[in-house]
Amino acid sequence: MRDAIAFAVVGLRAILLGPPGAGKGTQAAAIVERFGVPHISSGDLFRRHVAERTELGLRLEPYLSAGELVPDDLVFEMLAGPVADAADSTGGYLLDGFPRTIAQAEQAYEIAHQYDLLVHAVVALEAPHDVLVQRLLLRGETSGRLDDTEAVVRHRLDVYDAMTRPLLDYYGDRGVLHRIDASGTVDEVRGVVLDELEGAVAAPGGR
Ligand code: AP5
Repeated sequence: MRDAIAFAVVGLRAILLGPPGAGKGTQAAAIVERFGVPHISSGDLFRRHVAERTELGLRLEPYLSAGELVPDDLVFEMLAGPVADAADSTGGYLLDGFPRTIAQAEQAYEIAHQYDLLVHAVVALEAPHDVLVQRLLLRGETSGRLDDTEAVVRHRLDVYDAMTRPLLDYYGDRGVLHRIDASGTVDEVRGVVLDELEGAVAAPGGR
């Protein structure tokens, strides 16, 4: 199956990075439409297990409802299959919400390097905390997400700053980082994101 990748049209391989409420899920829809690669959202996969009350979902729920990171072994257990399937079918993927720590990024790099599937671009969406809190509290009025309460939203932002923000330097050093101001309208942000990704695919760099 892996050999088929060599003959497939190589798809976009990208990571969406950013704090809660930055618009990762929102912009993912436009990226998928433009580039035709599978969208793999760790949060969506986790929430599906929680909603379906699977054995894994029962283990995940306390982390999600508290806004804590899920342990790495559970994260990789969940994502290995979908990422391999995506790469086999299109040679590309859009990861949303993964990796979230340096340890996850380093492990993902080893796997991607082994299969010659390193990312073309990491898009980092950025906006001030007050904008993010406002967006998530608004969404929380209808989303039903357990983590869209003010206390948990603020904790998720702290977790992002402590555990995920260091990835900006990590991917900056690898030459694949595209930092984007995500405080504008959805359409404004979409235009910049798609332009950056078009450029990254046309002239892949990084390592
Ligand atoms: P995850 O599902 O990844 O949540 P998150 O990172 O907290 O992000 P959100 O989904 O809240 O925001 P978003 O950036 O996608 O913005 P969205 O487009 O939805 O993770 C949830 C949990 O799962 C984590 O807390 C953790 O427990 C666990 N987890 C996940 N991955 C993990 C990993 N790798 N390791 C360990 N644990 C992991 O937009 C938000 C709102 O804003 C929407 O209402 C939208 O309409 C609105 N909006 C978006 N853009 C704009 C705009 N430009 N202007 C105005 N409104 C906008």
